[in-house]
Amino acid sequence: MVTVLAIETSCDETAVAIVNKREVYSSFVASQIAVHQQYGGVVPEVASRQHLEVINYAIAQAMEQAKLGWQDIDGIAATCSPGLVGALLVGLTVAKTLAMLHEKPLIGVHHLEGHICATYLSELDLQPPFLSLLVSGGHTSLIHVQDYGVYQTLGETRDDAAGEAFDKVARLLGLGYPGGPMIDKVAKQGNPNAFSLPEGRVSLPNNGGFHRYDASFSGLKTAVLRLVQQFQQKGEEVPVADIAASFQETVARSLTKRTINCALDYGLNKIAIGGGVAANSSLRSHLQTAVNKNNLQVFFPPLKYCTDNAAMIGCAASQHLFLGNTSPLTLGVNSRLSLTKVMELYQ
Ligand code: KG4
Ligand code: ZN
Repeated sequence: MVTVLAIETSCDETAVAIVNKREVYSSFVASQIAVHQQYGGVVPEVASRQHLEVINYAIAQAMEQAKLGWQDIDGIAATCSPGLVGALLVGLTVAKTLAMLHEKPLIGVHHLEGHICATYLSELDLQPPFLSLLVSGGHTSLIHVQDYGVYQTLGETRDDAAGEAFDKVARLLGLGYPGGPMIDKVAKQGNPNAFSLPEGRVSLPNNGGFHRYDASFSGLKTAVLRLVQQFQQKGEEVPVADIAASFQETVARSLTKRTINCALDYGLNKIAIGGGVAANSSLRSHLQTAVNKNNLQVFFPPLKYCTDNAAMIGCAASQHLFLGNTSPLTLGVNSRLSLTKVMELYQ
């Protein structure tokens, strides 16, 4: 019996879901985007307070949607790393309280393991090993999923994460927050080949603690800034749609190349995509074309499971509970725990 109530509060979504292995009984997400929009980005203290205000309602909604009682729940899960410390604390403390109150086991979940597991919710037969490309506001990671709970990081970002680059470029173009969906929308009216932008090549040697498939977006971001400044200095109107389309095209091309090279080098023929940027239409079409050419397979989770949600956290937790992995009630939050250390969350 592995029906889990899972809580996700690592950033700006307050989410609660009830999941049994790969089956989602309910999934409730309250986004704080409207609250943070006025500041142009997530304000950590505001995020924690919002989580506190919404969490009880979110739990009640998830229970009601699933039409379950506490006797039907076998474990309580919460994201405990990585993320904003205050925000994580709200979810984990609530989970511990529920676990004690209802005498259920606690399962702490690594947020990135949740993003990897999002693919399982729509690919019911997918089993490790496979390659996971995680592209979110905080991460650009290529992960070799060797088995459940066993991960090897093959690439990360050396500066901005993919989503962060989208958000910063959107701000530069005056498109507002969050930038990814805005750029995706505006780019549809633009020419992706209007401007040639640097893909951000990273030297490959596996030294200095770097990974071979690392990404870097700072050069690309600076190039977009220069481009915008050139138009402004000339007193010309900034071609927002063309710049957005060219930027998006460059990110999609660079992520696709890196991912395909990594999959081929490691002999992994299945690729799962996760994280908010996995919703990007250009990245999806570039990857699809490239996997078709190389006889590989790519899996995209439905959009609602790409961005932060608790169903993916519940899926990871349910699998851990199935394997007998539970967390001590002394478990703490951690703003940055490596995915390779995920088993340290369990006793
Ligand atoms: O996974 P996520 O919801 O939260 C984190 O764990 O960070 O990812 C949020 C990021 C934001 O940077 C947002 O701009 C980006 O995902 N994003 C997108 C799209 N939808 C969301 N980026 C590009 N294209 C999109 N359609
Ligand atoms: Zn996330």
